[in-house]
Amino acid sequence: MKQPRGGEACPSRGVRAVGVCQRFGRRVKFAIRAGRVQGFLCTSAWWGWVYLGERVPGVVYCSMGKRIASGGAGVVRGPGPGRGQGSGDGGALFARGHLLQLAGLSAKELRAILGRARVFAGHDADGSDDPKAWRERLRGKVVANLFFEDSTRTRVSFAVAAERLGAQVINLTSVGSSISKGETVADTALNVAAMGVDGIVMRHKSSGAPHLVVRTLAERAHSYDDAGRVCSVINAGDGRHEHPTQGLLDIYTIAERFDRLDGFDLSGLTVGIVGDIASSRVARSGIVGLGALGAKVVCIGPPTLVPRSIEAMGCKTTHDLDGVIGKLDAVNVLRIQFERHDGGGGGGEKMPGASNAVASVREYYEVYGLNSARLAKLRPGAIVMHPGPINRGVEMSSEAADSGQSMVLRQVRHGVAVRMAVLEMCLNASAQGR
Ligand code: MLT
Repeated sequence: MKQPRGGEACPSRGVRAVGVCQRFGRRVKFAIRAGRVQGFLCTSAWWGWVYLGERVPGVVYCSMGKRIASGGAGVVRGPGPGRGQGSGDGGALFARGHLLQLAGLSAKELRAILGRARVFAGHDADGSDDPKAWRERLRGKVVANLFFEDSTRTRVSFAVAAERLGAQVINLTSVGSSISKGETVADTALNVAAMGVDGIVMRHKSSGAPHLVVRTLAERAHSYDDAGRVCSVINAGDGRHEHPTQGLLDIYTIAERFDRLDGFDLSGLTVGIVGDIASSRVARSGIVGLGALGAKVVCIGPPTLVPRSIEAMGCKTTHDLDGVIGKLDAVNVLRIQFERHDGGGGGGEKMPGASNAVASVREYYEVYGLNSARLAKLRPGAIVMHPGPINRGVEMSSEAADSGQSMVLRQVRHGVAVRMAVLEMCLNASAQGR
């Protein structure tokens, strides 16, 4: 996003500048008076007017008018999202024991997490950390997995990670809990926190839901904890916003393959993210995290799924997969997230094909599917990734998914190490008091 200075003059509202909302990848206009951001207008009719809540240098926090009750706090970052300047709220939240997004984490903070993951992945150079002691790291702590949206890999991976560190894991899903009786996500989180859990790992279909939970827990801390402590909150995927641990494990996988585990410097590498960027939290975490560590990121797909505005996050876009595929070191293929698309009729779960953004799945596969012919066009040594779940024959063929270049299962493996690092760092920050 552009720094909110300069911009076009607007007689009625002072100076305006244009940026992109980090959460939604949508254009926002800033109103600036006396050299300071006074508010901004998100051009999406859905979100309507937004106003400025509080300020941290380089960061604009916004509330979203009446919609905040269901959507949570919005975040618009300051200088150069994903450029590792550490000026967003990600770093501040991380220091307080929460990981809600990669946006705003500095390259140093990202490297600290990845470096710790390296130990847990068994790739540590000196091997000084004794795996037998890992179970002591979070012994006596309780981690609640609050998954308001379906998950296989992420939920199991967090559970395995927590248990490897000696924590007890409680699993809560929408089905079988009071969420199905209409309890709000904030109330559910408050009740879980009041039981004394040390960490909440949450997934929710609304972008910003974990931010809302952190804010609510902090506001009500003294009503459920004598010392006013706030348990850690870790985002396991919120709507279209971010999926920070997926971003980290993708980075780890690329670093391992290209021998960058020492220092996690990804400069010189070009990563293509192919598919449904508009709906993807994986893409947003990837763009900021990879960019912060020096990689070039190109988002590839049809115009309906790859809005040009996403470039403001620090990546390039193209609609021509065949034109660019031979220049990529890593190609991260995304599922078409039909459940987040309009169209196709009816409500509830959307089936493949039920989308205004993708007229024909067959045609999509023809133009953007990673098939054997495209696999052959990849550079020698280039890798294929996918966050899962894979829809074989929609975004990639079985040959591509199961090929020697495919890192899909290494991604899953690294996910446990990354989540061990995140849980350890967040819950220990929480133990030291925030
Ligand atoms: C997600 O939760 O975003 C997944 O990891 C990717 C997907 O659902 O396609």
